[in-house]
Amino acid sequence: LQYSITRQKTNNQPVIPRSLIVKVQGVSLPDHIAKAFEAASAFTPDPSDLIIISYPKSGTTWIQEIVDLLLHNGDDGSSKRASIVKRHPFLEYCICYEPSGLDLLKEMDPPRVIKTHMPLQLVPAGFWENKCKIIYIARNAKDTLVSYYHFLRMSKISPEPGPWEGFIHKFMRGELGWGSWYDHVKGYWEEREKRNILFLFYEDMKENPRREIERIMKYLDLYLPDDVISHIVEMTTFKNMEENPMVNYSFFGKEIFDQTISKFMRKGEIGDWKNHFTPEQSAEFDEDYQKKMKNVNIPFRAQF
Ligand code: A3P
Repeated sequence: LQYSITRQKTNNQPVIPRSLIVKVQGVSLPDHIAKAFEAASAFTPDPSDLIIISYPKSGTTWIQEIVDLLLHNGDDGSSKRASIVKRHPFLEYCICYEPSGLDLLKEMDPPRVIKTHMPLQLVPAGFWENKCKIIYIARNAKDTLVSYYHFLRMSKISPEPGPWEGFIHKFMRGELGWGSWYDHVKGYWEEREKRNILFLFYEDMKENPRREIERIMKYLDLYLPDDVISHIVEMTTFKNMEENPMVNYSFFGKEIFDQTISKFMRKGEIGDWKNHFTPEQSAEFDEDYQKKMKNVNIPFRAQF
């Protein structure tokens, strides 16, 4: 692999080039992530570490915030103590002047909460060997695609999304960072029982956040009183998270995420794809989806 990540400075502001997509073991990854891959995949977690896994733009940050509050007994201060990136290291993260995910992990004592977007076949073997608890969050494919599109418009370190029509095809072909949504979701779905993965859906979270928060709580062997759970539900509404500078990604400068283009906490809705796909694009996407997800007994809510 060739990497061409150069760091220049203009007016003391680092200029970070947009990454390119490269393939690692057949999976598309942004080149800066590919660069960190080898070290990340050799990482050995502690059995007490909790891993949060998702395909990008599936509601990862939402789950992270809920988990953090659950682990801190609903204490508001916990979600304000540091950015979500510092609280929960992003395993394969390695950009510019910030400490990498592995750097952060080295400084933290277990039990830690670790985020990764890696597909099943690329995660460290230690996740399984040490029987870490794993929470996976999936979101319907079209809404994930739309959220990813807007994210790439504002992320100055990621590849350009290009025109909308072509972007749909890149998603369908698995050419975006972290590869094929279909393989990602299928991979973890099929292993969820064998590997004791708590498999969540964004749509279920929207339908009844309290019910899903209680599922997470039980999975973590925590039993918090009702009023604390109600408080966590309230703290993790879209509106409250949107206003929390420690989770809305405003802690990154404009040279990384230009939120004047699109917010990280953008809409937080189900079905925004209807405002983006034409009926023809939707029909083509659905036909392809049926082929790729055939024989996968995944609930309808993951689909459309
Ligand atoms: P949209 O772009 O559709 O708004 P991730 O954290 O995996 O990058 O996912 C980001 C997506 O989750 C964004 O979707 C974001 O708005 C949404 N999200 C984050 N917190 C949320 C919350 N509390 N309620 C609903 N959606 C949330």
